[in-house]
Formats: sequence, structure tokens, C-alpha cells
Amino acid sequence: MQIYVTKDYEAMSRKAAAVMAAQIIAKPDSILGLATGSSPVGLYQDLIAGCAAGDLDFSRITTVNLDEYAGLDGTHDQSYRYFMNTNLFDHVNVDKARTNVPNGKAPDPAAECVRYEAMLQKLGPADIQLLGMGRNGHIGFNEPDDVFTAPTHVVELTDSTIDANARFFASRDEVPKKALTMGVGAIMRARRVLVVVSGPDKAEAVKAAFAGPITPRVPASILQLHPDVVLVGDEAALAGLLETGVTACG
Ligand code: GLP
Repeated sequence: MQIYVTKDYEAMSRKAAAVMAAQIIAKPDSILGLATGSSPVGLYQDLIAGCAAGDLDFSRITTVNLDEYAGLDGTHDQSYRYFMNTNLFDHVNVDKARTNVPNGKAPDPAAECVRYEAMLQKLGPADIQLLGMGRNGHIGFNEPDDVFTAPTHVVELTDSTIDANARFFASRDEVPKKALTMGVGAIMRARRVLVVVSGPDKAEAVKAAFAGPITPRVPASILQLHPDVVLVGDEAALAGLLETGVTACG
């Protein structure tokens, strides 16, 4: 695993965007696994700037997103489809037909998960999978559980995740209680995994994920088994992990 420590969120975003940009330049028809949440927003802004400057070309890129809230249409301002459109896709020259997000409004969410997983299998592994991390160590919406679930599946969100995401909704009651998420199978199949973490709220989860036991109670801990993980975090988020004596690259 390569670990990069940065001073703050902006520096984290720039460094992680550089990793993503290198992938896009090296392989213009890359499959990018993308994530939502506040952690990747700055990275997306840097990619948008790179595209505007003519340095990055998304015309042959395919994207696969991790997850979507069950019950939210792509036009709902808290849906992850809307997030991706407004934070990235609307501002770069990607072909929207090649951007994939689970359909939160599918009448049968379990069938939608089967469709999404088949689509992922057909496309093949993502060249790079971007991940944020929940405060409880979740990745995508793979919540702490007794088992790791490999395929795309429907999840019940934990109280901790509903609390954390309530800030984006008018009230806690409006936060969907279920989501559709890529499982750990497709995440682990990605050729490279890029994790971005920022702020003291993440410090414990980051330490548990990368220096603790591999357990579905901390879903991100499975990344210890991945051969190519790049972790980019600010000092606050990486403080606990660095205390354990792991070495950062820069
Ligand atoms: C949500 C998303 C995750 C994301 C997490 C952390 O639960 N499903 O993919 O990593 O939030 O969000 P943030 O980056 O805002 O802390």
C-alpha cells in the first residue's frame, strides 16, 4: 500500500486527482470506479479543471459508481446520480451513456442489483476504483456486518450512516433507509484502489481499516488484501494510522 499524507483537504484532493489524472492520460479508455460523499468533491473539481485546460480527455472513459439510495430518482438532489452529474459529469466531456450508477428508482431493487452486477462483470475490472470511507469503516454502502458481501446488493443503512448523511437532507426522516451498493467483489477486482480520507472524524476508521484485523465489522479492512491500494489522506485523518508506525511515501 502506498500512503500519502497531506496538510489539508485541498492538498489531499490535488494529490488524489493527480493519481486519477495519470490513469486517464495513460489509458484514455479507462474504466473509472467513482464515489460520492464530500471527500472526492475537491478531486472532481481538479479533474474538471484538467479537462477545461485540455489536459484530460474523458471522451472514451467509462465510469461505474459504487452506490445509490433506494427510492431516489436520479433527478432528486440527494441522489448519487444527481451528485455525479453536478459534481463531475456535466462539466467534463464524458459520454453520459457510458456513466453507470445503480438505479435507485428501480421497482425491484434486488433485480436492479443483479442487472448492475452483470453490467460490471461484462465491463471487466475498473482500472481504478475511488473510495471514500464512512466513519464506521464502510466503503460504498458496504456497512459493518457479520460477513463480506461480494456482489451488488441492497443494504439497510446503519444509524451511524443515516446520522452522518442527514446533514444533506432537510431532516433525518428524509434520509433513505436502504441503498443499492457494489459489493466488495467488484471493489477488490479493481486493478488499483484510490482511497481519500479527510478530517479527524475518519482517524479511527482509517486506523482500524489498515492496521487492525481484516473483518466485515470494518468493511474497508478487506483492502489490506488488495495488491495496489493508494491511500491519500490529510494529517488529521491519518493521525491514528501513522501512530501505529506504518510508513508513508510522502
Ligand atoms: C456515503 C457514501 C460513501 C462515502 C461515505 C463518506 O455513505 N456511500 O461512498 O465514502 O458517505 O462520505 P464523506 O466523504 O462525505 O465523509
